[in-house]
Formats: sequence, C-alpha cells, structure tokens
Amino acid sequence: MTRLGIVLSGRGSNFEAIAEQIGQGSLSAEIAVVVANRADAPGLEAARRRGLQAVALPSRGVERPEYDRSLIEVLRAHDVEWVVLAGYMRILTAEFIRAFPKRILNIHPSLLPAFPGLDAQHQAFAYGVKVTGCTVHFVDEHLDHGPIVMQATVAVEEGDTVETVSARILSEEHRLYSEALRLLLAGAWAIEGRKVIRLERMTAGG
Ligand code: GAR
Repeated sequence: MTRLGIVLSGRGSNFEAIAEQIGQGSLSAEIAVVVANRADAPGLEAARRRGLQAVALPSRGVERPEYDRSLIEVLRAHDVEWVVLAGYMRILTAEFIRAFPKRILNIHPSLLPAFPGLDAQHQAFAYGVKVTGCTVHFVDEHLDHGPIVMQATVAVEEGDTVETVSARILSEEHRLYSEALRLLLAGAWAIEGRKVIRLERMTAGG
C-alpha cells in the first residue's frame, strides 16, 4: 500500500476527504503521517481522532532550510512515498523538492495559472471571473506552479458570494484530490515538460 504523508497548516478538510476515500476502499493507499507546521492546526486533531500518526512541527521562528530538513526527516521516518500538501501555506525549498522527486502534490483553489498565492477564491471572485475551480498539481520550487495533474471548474452564478463560490470549490477539491491520487498511484502516467500524460490514452490513441 502506498504510504502518503499529509502536510497541512489548518483545517484539514482535504486531508479528511482523502482519509474518507481510503476508509471506503475507493483509494488504495495509507496515511503514514499527518504533519502540521502549526501545533493548533485543527487538521492535527482530526488526524488523532482517526487514530493516525499526527506530528506538530511548528515553523514559527525556524529558518526555511532548517525547517524543511526537519520535515524531510519526519516524513522519511514514516517511510512516506508521496507527499500530499493539503492546505500547507508555505513554499518548499529546492532541497525538499529534490528529496521527493515527482512525488509531491498540492491542491490550489483556482484554475492555475490564474490566481496563485493566498486567498485564491477571493482573488478570482473580486476579479469578476465567470468560471473558477481548483487544481491538483505537482510541486516545484515556485509558488503554485508545477505540472497540472487535474482541474475541476466551478461556475460563478448571479447572486453568488465569495462564500458560496468557495464552498462549491471546496467540495470539488474534496472529490478531485482523491481522483488525482487514484490516477497517479495507479502508475500509468508520465511528466513531459509541463504536461502530465496518461499513458493508457497514449497507447489507446496511438
Ligand atoms: C484549500 O482550499 C486548499 O486548496 C488551499 O487551502 C485550503 C485548505 O483547506 N490551499 C492553498 O491555497 C495552497 N496555495 P483544508 O485545510 O480544509 O483542506
């Protein structure tokens, strides 16, 4: 069973959605550890309630290179194969990226490359977009930037508020992250430049 290391900063609803899918048997993986860079992250408590390994690794006041080295250590100590960022609000160092090559995923609440960074839902809503959504992507050294695995769209309707749109995006995130993990853990994919290619399709389509 593939061992996932979940890394988060807050609420942890994406982590919980993945844990639910695993529990239901629709995602074949196990959560080896949940790590948070804030001791008070609700996601950590949720992990403990589920009987999972939960590690608080506070980042406040720690230099980024040193912090990321400790994070690598924790993940390696739990034999993590895939790093799943689930609301982790920090950029990773090149050393961290190199420690898990092509094995770090992130979810972002916009259709990248539009609206990277903080408060993406607010940014998109304030911009007046008619369609927004969420993106699961591989992580590289740049913010919300690596090759895209999957995206889901959410329409912005008359009468929507940033809260109603954000809620619809979040429910798409919960579906999409596990769908992307199912594809990737099945192994029939490759990264070509910026593109994540499904190998079955290439075979079927010639
Ligand atoms: C999610 O909307 C996720 O896409 C976003 O933080 C939220 C975490 O919610 N991540 C980013 O903005 C990363 N740039 P959660 O803690 O309930 O999963």
